[in-house]
Amino acid sequence: MSRKFIVGGNWKCNPASMKEANTLLKEWKKSLPSVDKSKVDVVICPPALWMTTLSPAIEALGMQTCAQNVGKNDAGAFTGEWTAANLLDLNIKWTLIGHSERRTKYGETDADVAEKVAKCQEIGVNVILCIGETLEEREGGKTDEVNKRQLAAVIPKVKDWSKIVLAYEPVWAIGTGKVATPEQAEETQAAIRAYIKGAVSSDVADKLQIQYGGSVSPDNCADGQPCGVRSESKAVEGLDSTQAPPPSSPLPENCQLGAMAQGDTFDEVDTSSKVKANRYKSQRLDFCQSREASCWASILELITKPNIDGFLVGGASLKPTFMEIVSKVGPSKMVDMWPKFEEKMKKEGLNDTAIAAFKYTYGVLVSGADVMIPESKLDPVEKLPEYEKLREKPDPRLLKKTLILKLNGGLGTGMGLEKAKSLLPVTQGFTFLDLIAKQVASMRKEFKTDLKFMLMNSFSTSQDTLEALSKYPDLGTGSDLEFVQNKAPKVTASDMSPAEWSADSSHEWCPPGHGDLYPAMLGSGTLEKLLKKGYRYMFVSNSDNLGATMDLKILTHFVQSGAPFMMEVAERTDADKKGGHLAKDKAGGLLLRESAQCPEEDEKEFQNVGKYKFFNTNNLWVDLAALKREFRRNDGALPLPVMKNGKTVDPRDKASTKVLQLETAMGAAIQCFEGASALVIPRSRFAPVKTTNDLLALRSDAYKLTEDFTIVLAPERDGVPPEVKLDGMYKFTDAMEKLIPNGPPSLLHCKKLVVEGPVTFAKDVIIKGTVTVKNSSGTSKELAAGTYEDKTVEL
Ligand code: PGA
Repeated sequence: MSRKFIVGGNWKCNPASMKEANTLLKEWKKSLPSVDKSKVDVVICPPALWMTTLSPAIEALGMQTCAQNVGKNDAGAFTGEWTAANLLDLNIKWTLIGHSERRTKYGETDADVAEKVAKCQEIGVNVILCIGETLEEREGGKTDEVNKRQLAAVIPKVKDWSKIVLAYEPVWAIGTGKVATPEQAEETQAAIRAYIKGAVSSDVADKLQIQYGGSVSPDNCADGQPCGVRSESKAVEGLDSTQAPPPSSPLPENCQLGAMAQGDTFDEVDTSSKVKANRYKSQRLDFCQSREASCWASILELITKPNIDGFLVGGASLKPTFMEIVSKVGPSKMVDMWPKFEEKMKKEGLNDTAIAAFKYTYGVLVSGADVMIPESKLDPVEKLPEYEKLREKPDPRLLKKTLILKLNGGLGTGMGLEKAKSLLPVTQGFTFLDLIAKQVASMRKEFKTDLKFMLMNSFSTSQDTLEALSKYPDLGTGSDLEFVQNKAPKVTASDMSPAEWSADSSHEWCPPGHGDLYPAMLGSGTLEKLLKKGYRYMFVSNSDNLGATMDLKILTHFVQSGAPFMMEVAERTDADKKGGHLAKDKAGGLLLRESAQCPEEDEKEFQNVGKYKFFNTNNLWVDLAALKREFRRNDGALPLPVMKNGKTVDPRDKASTKVLQLETAMGAAIQCFEGASALVIPRSRFAPVKTTNDLLALRSDAYKLTEDFTIVLAPERDGVPPEVKLDGMYKFTDAMEKLIPNGPPSLLHCKKLVVEGPVTFAKDVIIKGTVTVKNSSGTSKELAAGTYEDKTVEL
């Protein structure tokens, strides 16, 4: 449900004179002649004595006047008070009630607040009801309890909820320059809404606008600290015209939020992560050149949180920049565009979970959120449990409660295939799917149990996959075998509207990345079905990683550890230094930092494989009950980092409309689960096939196909795969077949093989050490049979 934004400016007992107040209003008029009331309501709370005098100027700006307080009584012997009826009499339709300064400095109790609200309801005055906890209460873990207590006192008095707005104002953030982080604010406001839902109704909770208040200002940064760049301008002295305006566009055109995880299934449909990362980084740098930009990012990030519907601004509402806050919040793409996306997704028959997930990612896109994770916010992960040292006694009974899930949503376009990538023949004529089916059959035999297996397909892989798997009926069929990931609308890059392509409307949709695993499981009913049938644990991996087999030792360790989520990580080597890494946030929670999330100046540390030692293999273990809990806690959408890919609406027509495709990655969910863990696994469990380089190596004698249909490195290799680097002309598998018409060369003792130019390998070629084969003639030449060791061969 999209609610209208509402911004309040609470001047408190400021500025020092009405002359200054008038100057301020004139300054505002210069920067924004009038607020667009269809998009945002703005209420200004001047000191009571000036309300009527200033009201015309406030209204001329498209804003409304709001009192800062009101009496709880009707007219009578109450010296110093005014009534709700007095306000209406003066055409003042709004008042704040329960501001923390009233509560703490004037001893207003919950009961006083409730009586005031009751009076306003009776008279018909709109109320901004302020609630929030003190620092001591937050530190004592009492935030939700305090908010609930303050609300509980008022709820029985409210008959007309359309006249109530809540302002969540953590007392420790008011006037201190300390802003709650977007996550803190969102978490608390989500809890407030959930409480209203239970205590009043879903409808009221859905419609209720909840503002965030507490040091909201373009001067405060995403890290919750005051911004050092801007001058500490106060009250009206702060009519500081030297302040630079915020960037005109919240996000640079092609800026990508986040990056693909290693072992990702979807990178074949796009340019490499690295290219995207670099492009993103330079633009991000422009955007975040100054801390001022990141200050704006903080406000924009707050406003796109699903439970934050505006701000109550104190100190910063006495500055000209207040109008910048209003104009940032007002013409929000979320308000303008979201209903169009929602309608389109509903028309397409997408379920509420899919819609909520896309709403979250779209919100991040239009928020300008600063997704950088600087070094200062991280600690390295020093030590993790290691596979070889696991001591738990494998417990085969757990297998009955466990689902093996393979992600199979990716197309093999990157390797020249127009269908599911898993239909590529990998070795000995078997496709990935054949090998997976055979692996499952052999695991079932080995563990003497009917292991539950499922696939997550995408709308473009489902049919082909089910057809190919029909020869393995034991694997299951229909919704017992697969659920289909959602599709997401492509976004027009120029105006953030839903992309349209009447020539072929299927091009208006794209897969939302494998982070969609979670909403797709929930929305398809699979999660509930599995839990009902007694399945509790899920082992997920990519279908192109044939090393990711069910391992009872790992399953037992995961279950006994009690972790809600566990990631299999491998040790980073120099070859992995450009890819993402695991790290800890300052609270000790695990998270992933992708290359695109690393500020330029921290690049060296990012690549320091001695410091950040582990990377995500995308083999994940998930406690399904914990997943359900997380969904409930986050209002049906896991807050995963969002990736943005620039493309054309028809991928083959480069002249067609430029669009953005939004994706999330499933490994990033590690940061969503409190108590998530990681396990260091041997590289043999991480053997993804992303390119024809990987495929050639895999088909060679450097790897062996075991009896249980796992592909493992030959023991002679000592755990190190050969590195193959084929000329770009061999990117597609059919071209690679022409390179090795007689089968792959022997790579058993090869460190690195480079092929440049058109070449065919004769039968019985043996490569040892590092060999480069070059043909610059343009016509294909054969590399004759024989052994080549540590040399460059010019053909
Ligand atoms: P602040 O005040 O924005 O100056 O922190 C907020 C309020 O008191 O409403």
